[in-house]
Amino acid sequence: MSPYSVTRTLPVHATAADLRTDVLQGLGRSPKSLPPKWFYDARGSELFEQITVLPEYYPTRAEREILRERAREIASVTGARTLVELGSGSSEKTRVLLDALPGLHTYLPVDVSESALTAAAEALLTERPGLSVHALIADFTRGLTLPGTPGPRLVAFLGGTLGNLLPDERAVFLKSLRALLRPGDALLLGTDLVKDEQTLVAAYDDAAGVTAAFNKNVLSVLNRELDADFDPDDFAHVARWNTEHEWIEMRLRARSALTVKIRELGTVVAFDKGEELRTEVSAKFREEGVREELAAAGLALRHWWTDREGRFALSLAAPE
Ligand code: SAH
Ligand code: AVI
Repeated sequence: MSPYSVTRTLPVHATAADLRTDVLQGLGRSPKSLPPKWFYDARGSELFEQITVLPEYYPTRAEREILRERAREIASVTGARTLVELGSGSSEKTRVLLDALPGLHTYLPVDVSESALTAAAEALLTERPGLSVHALIADFTRGLTLPGTPGPRLVAFLGGTLGNLLPDERAVFLKSLRALLRPGDALLLGTDLVKDEQTLVAAYDDAAGVTAAFNKNVLSVLNRELDADFDPDDFAHVARWNTEHEWIEMRLRARSALTVKIRELGTVVAFDKGEELRTEVSAKFREEGVREELAAAGLALRHWWTDREGRFALSLAAPE
């Protein structure tokens, strides 16, 4: 394999078809909702990077702290020769792992955001000329297949992105992940933990309004991709803690009764005053819950590490 390649497993038309289906279904139901993967066009990926350095948004710092503490242990336990990273984004924290994995041959970042993926992969290639980087533009919820690279493989799913899937979706996803793993491979999973409501809500409703802009970015994606006429100013950013499900919900609340034309779909969507569109859930976890979800997918939790303040966890799991 050449030291750098990009594979698109998501044909542009398939992405467009997925978006149409998600919008027709999600805006057609009550309550309205959209899957969070549509946040991440180039602007959305850039806004997410800004979120990671906000004072209120602790998950990135907490996970980096654990990675720094545990990277050597992860390297010696896994002996990974291929690092697969799902939802890799900027691959910024991944550098801690890359530095600690002495025998690493291939890095395989997987993301729907082509802009984030190519920028990260190109930067890594200059920083680490010996590393083979194979970037995969793919939806990790859509039957991922990995190219043949040297094992053992370590599959990293960082940032707490697992929490952006609903419980049923997580169960299906974890099983598909288990199917990718061979004996000797491992999964490194980052999960944000349940904590006090004030800290959680602040992390998703920052004072500078970056998360609000990130949330509203999905409307710009719909305007551009489906020729819709959303005015982001017509909606308010809402971040709410759901005690029953132990997840944060991001919503967009219509400031007044309004209609939106989605020309590509030949449809008009009506919002009542105060009606909310759910754009994301971000589930927060407890150790037992993570252990159970992994076990249900045939994965055994071998290590559970948290940051010093106990805000975020990294799990290392292996196929049973
Ligand atoms: N892992 C990084 C980035 C997290 S942001 C970190 O910890 O900071 C979530 C990333 O997952 C984004 O880059 C987004 O484009 C990607 N993503 C979201 N849903 C996806 C999906 N279904 N398939 C592939 N990538 C996805
Ligand atoms: C990518 N994901 C784990 C982030 C989260 O915290 O759920 C996305 C995000 N949404 C708002 N802020 C950050």
